[in-house]
Amino acid sequence: MTTTSPFTYRFEAGARAGAPPLLLLHGTGGDESDLLQLGQAISPGAALLSPRGRVLENGMPRFFRRFAEGVFDEADVRMRAKELGDFVTDAREHYGIGAPIAVGYSNGANIAAALLLIQPEVLAGAVLLRAMVPLSDPPAFDLGGKPVLILSGRQDPIVPADNAYRLSTMLSTAGAKVDHQILPTGHQLSQTDIALARTWLADVALATGQLKHAISAR
Ligand code: MLT
Repeated sequence: MTTTSPFTYRFEAGARAGAPPLLLLHGTGGDESDLLQLGQAISPGAALLSPRGRVLENGMPRFFRRFAEGVFDEADVRMRAKELGDFVTDAREHYGIGAPIAVGYSNGANIAAALLLIQPEVLAGAVLLRAMVPLSDPPAFDLGGKPVLILSGRQDPIVPADNAYRLSTMLSTAGAKVDHQILPTGHQLSQTDIALARTWLADVALATGQLKHAISAR
């Protein structure tokens, strides 16, 4: 798949049964290696799929175009979210993995949120670190109880508090099971993000396992 995929990416096979695969989505200026350590830290042994954003802004990879900081080219957001969704679908087939939980930081969190809004079936859930509303007028969608963790920074100069709040409301109104926490920090990630994401992912893996068990016992 590496030779035919439009994305440059890294894949690490999972080593722990029951750990949902993670789709790692870096921030502006990052690449496919950026979040591998974070992925290993928050869900040891999970399969990791980590693409590099295909848009370049002054040489910095991103997942979609923007006109200015926080002002997004929404036609591009839609097109890129679809492209990313197709990539995940191909990768799932190629590597034989289940629907991943997206773990996105900043621009990566914003494309993950767009993917949830446009192609919710691609993801099993999402951890959105410093995310904003990616689309002002998303299509009607049903997130059917998908788990979403949003971690925002109270002093974040890039993400206004009301924007993060709107995203959280938008996703929960559409049926996602949203846990939105506001941390005493800025746009950068902190150890608290890692600790919270790790606990949340362990709970999600447990709940998914229990559900599978209950279904197979019927
Ligand atoms: C974005 O463009 O997605 C957000 O402003 C976050 C960023 O990448 O700075």
